[in-house]
Amino acid sequence: MTVVLAIDGPGGAGKGTVSKRLAESLDWHLLDSGALYRLVGIAARKRNLDLSNVTQLAEIARNLGVQFRVAEAGELVQTWLEGEQIDHLLRTEKAGSDASVVAAIPEVRAALLQRQRDFAVPPGLVADGRDMGTVVFPDAHLKVFLTASVEERAHRRYKQLKEQGLSANLRALREELEARARRDSERAAAPLKPAPDAWVLDTTGIGIDEVVAMIRERLDGVLSSRESK
Ligand code: C5P
Repeated sequence: MTVVLAIDGPGGAGKGTVSKRLAESLDWHLLDSGALYRLVGIAARKRNLDLSNVTQLAEIARNLGVQFRVAEAGELVQTWLEGEQIDHLLRTEKAGSDASVVAAIPEVRAALLQRQRDFAVPPGLVADGRDMGTVVFPDAHLKVFLTASVEERAHRRYKQLKEQGLSANLRALREELEARARRDSERAAAPLKPAPDAWVLDTTGIGIDEVVAMIRERLDGVLSSRESK
């Protein structure tokens, strides 16, 4: 069975960066599950669909024509949806909030379940999301739940957006992150919460390098105890 490291938590807790860094250093696959929900929202908007249209949203999720391509320079991954490169739309707060609306629909979640599980191929998978440890990979070898105070999460997201040349307003970001975490935690389908066997790591005041090192140390412990069995 492929080794899976599940990393869950609210937006802005550092999951994306931490997961990417760990996947790169381990040379493992990476599942950015949030991107799938963002893509469903983007595809729905492109078709001028109402985000409450459950039947059509589930249909979009089942047939999502998405490709993640490595750019020519090597590293950068490009996201193509139905023949169009949509990276400029993917990371906006609008795409994030649309994603959290479509992600509350059980039929959409069910349609994306197998697609996510298919990412678990050797040598290993780092899975980043909200329900990686609870629903998608309940048997993951290590489950981490990353959190941070809402102030810190808003600051991190602000910095990230600015670095990408996107516009951002700190107060609006904080409100949006709070609303999104509330919607994600209170929904009936796969709510955002730590798995009972997850390691809850509050990263408030801890730099990203240290967080990566802490998780790597714990993962190495898990991997070596597996090998010695
Ligand atoms: O992680 P990211 O910010 O890209 O996720 C966008 C939204 O997608 C989240 O706010 C959440 O509502 C939804 N999501 C989810 N389950 C996942 C990943 C993301 O419900 N595994």
